[in-house]
Amino acid sequence: MKTQHTELESLYRKRASGHWRDRLLRFIQPPLPYVMNPAEPKDMPMGRWNLYLGGAGLVVDGYVNVDLLAIAGVDVAADAEQLPFAADAFQRVECDAVLEHVRDPQRVMSEIRRVLAPGGYLHLVTPFCHPYHAYPNDFRRFSIEGLKELAGPMEIVAEGWRTGPTATLLVVVIEYIKLLLPFRAWRAVSHVLCGWVLFPLRYLDLLLLRSPEARRIGNHCYLWLRQPDP
Ligand SMILES: C[S@@+](CC[C@H](N)C(=O)[O-])C[C@H]1O[C@@H](n2cnc3c(N)ncnc32)[C@H](O)[C@@H]1O
Repeated sequence: MKTQHTELESLYRKRASGHWRDRLLRFIQPPLPYVMNPAEPKDMPMGRWNLYLGGAGLVVDGYVNVDLLAIAGVDVAADAEQLPFAADAFQRVECDAVLEHVRDPQRVMSEIRRVLAPGGYLHLVTPFCHPYHAYPNDFRRFSIEGLKELAGPMEIVAEGWRTGPTATLLVVVIEYIKLLLPFRAWRAVSHVLCGWVLFPLRYLDLLLLRSPEARRIGNHCYLWLRQPDP
């Protein structure tokens, strides 16, 4: 476990490093192989205290940033399965691409429900068809139905796909090509070249996400949930 944490910390440090080599690598990185679904709501109310789970390396203005790792951007280092906060402390909770990395998602959900005030909002985002990525582990994938099972008594306010079938196709093709290459340096070059060549296809998702069938090979899905008033 310690080695996994160290590897993840060194990945985050590289992302923020000012060394010329890391800066050059960041400069030539291709655009992301996905576009966000414009239909996903973003404007649920925030309160005085809001919680961002798993935001290592990110600046999350307006939130208390909690992550397993005590690194740049993190306000409180803690496990989401045991949050060090009082009941009803937060008005909004963001849990974006975290539930696949925790050992017990039911336990994380019950912790979130405990710290979320009545009438508060929870935003859940999880991968459905996406390559393995260890932060520091990768335990599972979720469909929208799977996320709803975790919602318990919370009210479902909105649901849908954040990133679509083309995102799935592109991330898999890029990983597949890297798999064929024997040397790390070749894989790094292929990642950059394939990324630049393929990224324009990502805009197809703006069309495909209009079809309900997109869920068959959707990339990441989301739910907005509301904590019931007593
Ligand atoms: C895939 S990253 C998502 C980062 C960010 N939300 C984003 O979308 O860019 C997952 C993050 O969750 C953190 N994490 C994993 N397990 C956790 C746990 N049990 N408690 C708190 N944070 C955790 C990892 O350290 C990592 O920073």
